[in-house]
Amino acid sequence: MLARTALRSVASTSRASAFSTSAARLTRVAVLGAGGGIGQPLSLLLKSDALVSSLSLYDIRGAPGVAADVSHIDTASEVNGYAADKIDEALEGAQVVVIPAGVPRKPGMTRDDLFNTNASIVRDLAASIGRVAPTAHILVISNPVNSTVPIVARTLEKAGVFDPKRVFGVTTLDVVRAARFTAGIAGVKPEQTPVTVVGGHSGATIVPLLSQNEHGKAISGDVYEKLVHRIQFGGDEVVKAKDGAGSATLSMAYAGAKFTNALLRGLNGEQGVITPTFVRSPLFEDKGVDFFSSLVELGPEGVQKILPLGQLSAEEQKLLDACLPELKKNIEKGLAFVA
Ligand code: NAD
Ligand code: LMR
Repeated sequence: MLARTALRSVASTSRASAFSTSAARLTRVAVLGAGGGIGQPLSLLLKSDALVSSLSLYDIRGAPGVAADVSHIDTASEVNGYAADKIDEALEGAQVVVIPAGVPRKPGMTRDDLFNTNASIVRDLAASIGRVAPTAHILVISNPVNSTVPIVARTLEKAGVFDPKRVFGVTTLDVVRAARFTAGIAGVKPEQTPVTVVGGHSGATIVPLLSQNEHGKAISGDVYEKLVHRIQFGGDEVVKAKDGAGSATLSMAYAGAKFTNALLRGLNGEQGVITPTFVRSPLFEDKGVDFFSSLVELGPEGVQKILPLGQLSAEEQKLLDACLPELKKNIEKGLAFVA
């Protein structure tokens, strides 16, 4: 039921966009880590996206099976699966590469505890992308996002092919959660509670700007504190409930497909596609924070415009002040790993 609803929502967005851009440029999308908990439902949702013409599914295990399964779905895109030694073939001609490869958390772990395993996975995949598909747009899901995005950027930089317009950390799950949780409190539909979430993707680095939504603005006191905590630590809720079997996969696949669709709409020339994402950003460079998630307008080349944060409440300013030093540390750790 959940998958069907998610499928309908993502598919209807892409159908609508295919309508508005009659000369839509169709796109080859590669998923690295397609055999995993996120990779499988994400591949399913991308198969239903009319802006995807070709889907390359790669994993060190299981991708050909997932590809065979997904390829029977009656949408026009072609699907191919690639085993461990076929990374070059998987990336050939890819314009968009989504990376959910890597290990997920278990109860008691922070996202940073994943660094030792996931940093080298992401670095090696980024090196392959730099070599085989140097102009691809790269969407990083693997945690810790605050560090893995700088790892991808620095790896591409070393290869001489880094373009800050084309590297994104996927923070959409925070945005999805913020809309859902706020709507629950306000007693309205999530469409009425879009919340801009800025900063990074872990704990205190996740900063929801609730005051910029009329329903969010009305929430105060203890209810506000609890809501902010739930948005910042929503991932822990799922990790705890799954009790050792991993972290968010279905909601993340939905969020990953939603962000991929937004990027594809921007690449296809649709105007006004604006969503938060974690990118190389000038907003807090003066504080030594070179990557930051904020509202970004997506266009034919990827990042078109990084928007300012706008008006913050006193509480949000405090959250931002707590976010920046932690985010800086996470970013520096990622950059140092590649250097
Ligand atoms: P999973 O273990 O179910 O799947 C990961 C997949 O990656 C596996 O199939 C594995 O074989 C594959 N893999 C490992 N090394 C690889 C490599 N070198 N090349 C290709 N594939 C490789 O994990 P999951 O639940 O799908 O989570 C994946 C990652 O996404 C984790 O790091 C998790 O923390 C992260 N995540 C991020 C967000 C977010 O909001 N950005 C949300 C949820 C999960
Ligand atoms: C999430 O926010 O659900 C993901 O980052 C996975 C996790 O480890 O919490």
